[in-house]
Amino acid sequence: MAPATVAAPAPKYTTTGTVSSPLDLESFASAKGEHETVRLTSAKGSQIRPKPKVTLTSLTVNNSGTLRKLNSVVIPIVYSDKFYKDVLDPSLDDINKIVYYADIPVGAICCRFDNQASTSKEKPPTLIILTLAVLAPYRSQSLGSALLLSALKASLHPAPPPPPLNDAKAGNKAPAPVTLKPRKPVNRAMAHVQVGNEDAKRFYERLGFKETEVVKDYYSKMQPRDAILMVCEDIRAALGEQANGDT
Ligand SMILES: CC(C)(COP(=O)(O)OP(=O)(O)OC[C@H]1O[C@@H](n2cnc3c(N)ncnc32)[C@H](O)[C@@H]1OP(=O)(O)O)[C@@H](O)C(=O)NCCC(=O)NCCS
Repeated sequence: MAPATVAAPAPKYTTTGTVSSPLDLESFASAKGEHETVRLTSAKGSQIRPKPKVTLTSLTVNNSGTLRKLNSVVIPIVYSDKFYKDVLDPSLDDINKIVYYADIPVGAICCRFDNQASTSKEKPPTLIILTLAVLAPYRSQSLGSALLLSALKASLHPAPPPPPLNDAKAGNKAPAPVTLKPRKPVNRAMAHVQVGNEDAKRFYERLGFKETEVVKDYYSKMQPRDAILMVCEDIRAALGEQANGDT
């Protein structure tokens, strides 16, 4: 995760940005009324548990409050309004996502690109993972991997950028909407992990990242202040893809 560059006042939330607590459906089982709870059991006697629907959703101004809430619950850093404005950049539409588990927002990834147009070996184009967060009760179900792998895939295989919206209210006087240029594929990624956060370090290693260096005093407002720089030099290999895109 990246440090906050500018300390911002605590964000205010409207009801649209509120994340509900997960519901314990079992607790409703004793409530008798017009309907009774039906317990589904397989032929072998085991309980049938339907797989929850898991979806990734792009960031918009409408779910920006949800993203803030997720980050503030999981990550001990207050990110600025500028951070939340920058991650809405439409050119990152296929990268920055919120994960919904049974329609509940439970995690999110925010990234940006560095040196996107660079051809130098010293400063190669790189996907920078700024925040990756999954609410604690929903961890170890591969939701974090789903977010990260989706961003890595999109970095290597950029989706066509979303079409511009016409401002209907401005009528004919509106300037012609600017069409975004497609991104070039980026095959390198990096993330900072706070020293001592072994879970996150193992998580990145499992997905092809390697520890490269310790960045001293990376975090100014929390202890420990140092960060481990985790780098994935070859996203294609990490995804198990060959150069022609085959897996
Ligand atoms: C790091 C983080 C995003 C991982 O999220 P997650 O949803 O738990 O990730 P995954 O489930 O994909 O993988 C995590 C672990 O669960 C295990 N796992 C994955 N699928 C599993 C499954 N179906 N059943 C059991 N375990 C599973 C993995 O082996 C992994 O274990 P490991 O750490 O020993 O390697 C989450 O722990 C988090 O939000 N941490 C706090 C914020 C943070 O540190 N962010 C990273 C720095 S930006």
